[in-house]
Amino acid sequence: MQKIIIDCDPGVDDALAIFLALASSSEIEVLGITCVRGNVALDKTYANARRICAEARRLDIPVLKGASRPVFEANPVNAGVHGADGLGDIGLPPAPPPNSSQHAVSFILEQVNRFPGEVILCPIGPMTNVALALMLDEDVAGKLQSIVFMGGAAYVPGNMNAHAEFNFMADPHAAEVMMRAKVPMVMFGLDVTHKATILPEHLARLRANGNACSLVSERLLSAYSVGDLHLHDPCVIAWLLEPTLFSGVQSQVSVVAEPGPDYGRSVATPSGAGNCLVMTDVDHDRLFDLLLSRLETLP
Ligand code: RIB
Ligand code: CA
Repeated sequence: MQKIIIDCDPGVDDALAIFLALASSSEIEVLGITCVRGNVALDKTYANARRICAEARRLDIPVLKGASRPVFEANPVNAGVHGADGLGDIGLPPAPPPNSSQHAVSFILEQVNRFPGEVILCPIGPMTNVALALMLDEDVAGKLQSIVFMGGAAYVPGNMNAHAEFNFMADPHAAEVMMRAKVPMVMFGLDVTHKATILPEHLARLRANGNACSLVSERLLSAYSVGDLHLHDPCVIAWLLEPTLFSGVQSQVSVVAEPGPDYGRSVATPSGAGNCLVMTDVDHDRLFDLLLSRLETLP
């Protein structure tokens, strides 16, 4: 059983990642969901994580509020494809009341000390909470099993400009703090997530599934895919479930945090001694088969 913390900024693709994790309870234990400002403001990402847990009938999952701004607010960035409310403006019910008053970073530190060597941290938004946790407790890096994240663009262009990907560009200082941590890391950047393309047949399959969470997912993806056809965040969870879906190259990756044309850029070089495994390829059909079949098992 893999113990994970999903650190996220829901966000439609974040929502699908959460659904996939909650639909895989025999392989993954979601210790908690920590929220960060990213696709939309923190109050909305925090509410959206609770809205998604409510759709999955999992109000037992701790949802924690984290950082409301990046380490250094150079220039606000907006992903823009998740709607004003962050969940496609499809009219999901309002969020249930919070189930924890603990800060996200405190929760991460608490869980890593509760389960030393076991926790897989899965950031799928800006890395602000991750960086704060790494800086608050110098021992936390040694107690994490790994960090498996969505962010960056190692060997391909960015999605915010020629070089930068949203999660890294939204807080490049935090991303660089994370990349310098002595923790085994697996990177799901645009190199591979731009190959996770949503097709009309996937939406049709969700409609055919017929269960509530599949139908919500279809509405979410129909709204989201107007602006972005790529399913970024669920790749992190899919790898935990079926690593053979993906392949990559061990690399040394750093993040440019200085203002200028490369702000937020991930700089990567293939290196057997590098700090992270950069995923570059995915079996597209098997990925969506996994996702769509698991979604069918939800309420
Ligand atoms: O660049 C894609 C990433 O930015 C995804 O995590 C998406 O949710 C947005 O946060
Ligand atoms: Ca995200």
